[in-house]
Amino acid sequence: MSLLIADGIGKSFGGLRALAGVSFAVDEGEIVGLMGANGAGKTTLFSIIAGHQRASEGAIRFKGASISGLRPDQVCRLGIARTFQIVRPFAGLSARDNVETALLFGGAQQSASAKVSDRAMEILEEVGLVDQWQKPAGAMTLSGRKRLEVARALGTAPELLLLDEVMAGLTPAEVAEMLETLRSVKRGYNLTIVIIEHVVRALVELSDRIIVLHHGELIAEGAPADIAKDKSVRAVYFGEEDA
Ligand SMILES: Nc1ncnc2c1ncn2[C@@H]1O[C@H](COP(=O)(O)OP(=O)(O)OP(=O)(O)O)[C@@H](O)[C@H]1O
Ligand SMILES: [Mg+2]
Repeated sequence: MSLLIADGIGKSFGGLRALAGVSFAVDEGEIVGLMGANGAGKTTLFSIIAGHQRASEGAIRFKGASISGLRPDQVCRLGIARTFQIVRPFAGLSARDNVETALLFGGAQQSASAKVSDRAMEILEEVGLVDQWQKPAGAMTLSGRKRLEVARALGTAPELLLLDEVMAGLTPAEVAEMLETLRSVKRGYNLTIVIIEHVVRALVELSDRIIVLHHGELIAEGAPADIAKDKSVRAVYFGEEDA
């Protein structure tokens, strides 16, 4: 069954058409990669799914019901978590307190207790940050902050995880570690994942299927190996004029 369906999503910002007629479905348990050049509309699509922005046209359905027009907290409680391209931790709070906040206010709706701290530590362990639990988020490396962003999303007990460039700016070794972490949390939480990423090799390695946006339109969809070879994708994404 399709967990998420985007049906004819359009979004205009004044005269700028950021998305037009974007339709796709994501099955339960899938990892779908979302690629496209800068400004293609990828983050805007996540914002619409997560309730941070309203679509100008079209509808989003999650588990068969429309979620269009719901607030971000309502979408979150239904089981959709997103990470932000520009990470948004509480910079002055420790890693553990950041995850506790997600546990207290997200879909899991745990009440404050010692259990919440224990659960936060478990999640930090799962993303490889347990050694840094006391560190303020603002003092972490980029790699640490990206991991914390994933941890905060997991704290809301999602079924669908939307990851916006969690590997951007990481070294190849850190990218490899992040891939390992994502595979392991996917198994552990039985997640469905949609992931935006410019690190194409990582996306091809991780995804079951890839969707390509170009100037707000969906121009290709298919198996990673086919997408990597697709001439129209190479032309618009890698600038290969004679591709
Ligand atoms: N709040 C906004 N107001 C006006 N224009 C916006 C807004 N958000 C995004 N845009 C514009 O919409 C288009 C799509 O932006 P979006 O951030 O979705 O792209 P993206 O694919 O995530 O790009 P990147 O790879 O650089 O993150 C861009 O032209 C952007 O400038
Ligand atoms: Mg973006």
